[in-house]
Amino acid sequence: MIEFQGVYKTYGSGSHALEDINLHIDDGEFAFIVGASGAGKSTFLKLIRREETPTSGEVIVNNYRLSRLKRKEVPYFRRTMGIVFQDFRLINTMTVFENVAFSMHVIGKRKKEINRRVHYVLQLLDLQGKGNRYPLELSGGEQQRVGLARALVNNPSLIIADEPTGNVDPQMSRDIVEMLTRINEKGTTVLMVTHEHELVHQFDHRVITLEKGHIVADTGRVNRPSTVSLGDMAGERGGVPV
Ligand SMILES: Nc1ncnc2c1ncn2[C@@H]1O[C@H](COP(=O)(O)OP(=O)(O)OP(=O)(O)O)[C@@H](O)[C@H]1O
Ligand SMILES: [Mg+2]
Repeated sequence: MIEFQGVYKTYGSGSHALEDINLHIDDGEFAFIVGASGAGKSTFLKLIRREETPTSGEVIVNNYRLSRLKRKEVPYFRRTMGIVFQDFRLINTMTVFENVAFSMHVIGKRKKEINRRVHYVLQLLDLQGKGNRYPLELSGGEQQRVGLARALVNNPSLIIADEPTGNVDPQMSRDIVEMLTRINEKGTTVLMVTHEHELVHQFDHRVITLEKGHIVADTGRVNRPSTVSLGDMAGERGGVPV
C-alpha cells in the first residue's frame, strides 16, 4: 500500500517538483505514471524509496510512515522493493549471474537457494545461457532484462520501474510490460514511469498523469479478471510467489 498525504517537494534550487499530492495505491495494483519531462515522475518514485524526503506532507509505504523511518532502517525498508533503472546500473565487472545474485548474497541467502532462484529468474526473462556473460557483452534489451531479473530476484512485494523501456525498441517495450503484468498478476504491486503513451494504451492498467507537479488525471484502480494460469511459474518457485 502506498499513500501520499498532502505531499509537497521543493528542491533546494526552489523548483516545485510536486505540489499537494494525495494518492492511494493498493497492494496488487499496476499503475503507470505518465507525464512530460520535468513533471515530477522520478521525484514521485524517489519519495516512495525514501531517496528524497517531502518538504511537507507524509508518504506511507507498506505501513512504514517514512518520516519516522530511522536512517539505519532505510536499507531494510528498501529491500522490500525491487527497482529497475532506465540506465540499468549493472555492475560491469560482474557477470550476469553475479549481478542478479548480488542482492541475495547481501541478505545472507545460501548458495544453493541463490543458484536455484537466479537460474529461475534468468530463464523467466529469456536470459538462459547468458549467466556467464558480462553486461557489456549484451544488447541493450538484454541488459534491461538483467536489470529486471535483479529487481525480481528477492521476490519483492513492490516493483518500481523508472522508464524501464527507455532504451529498447517498441516490441521489447511491450515484452517488458507484459512480463511486469504477469508478475503483477501473481500479486506484486508494480509502478512504472513511462513517457510512451502508445505503450500505456495497449494495457488495461491504472494511469496516473502528472503535469508540473500536480496529478491532472487518474483512472483509478483497474480491476481485471485474472487471465494467467498459475501453472507456468508455480512449479519452479517452490510455492513462493514471483
Ligand atoms: N536534485 C534536484 N535538484 C533540483 N531540482 C531537481 C532535482 N531533481 C529534479 N529537480 C527538478 O524537479 C522537477 C521534477 O523533476 P523529475 O526528475 O521528478 O521529473 P521527471 O518527470 O522525472 O522528468 P523526466 O521525464 O525528464 O525524467 C524538474 O523541474 C527538475 O528540474
Ligand atoms: Mg525522470
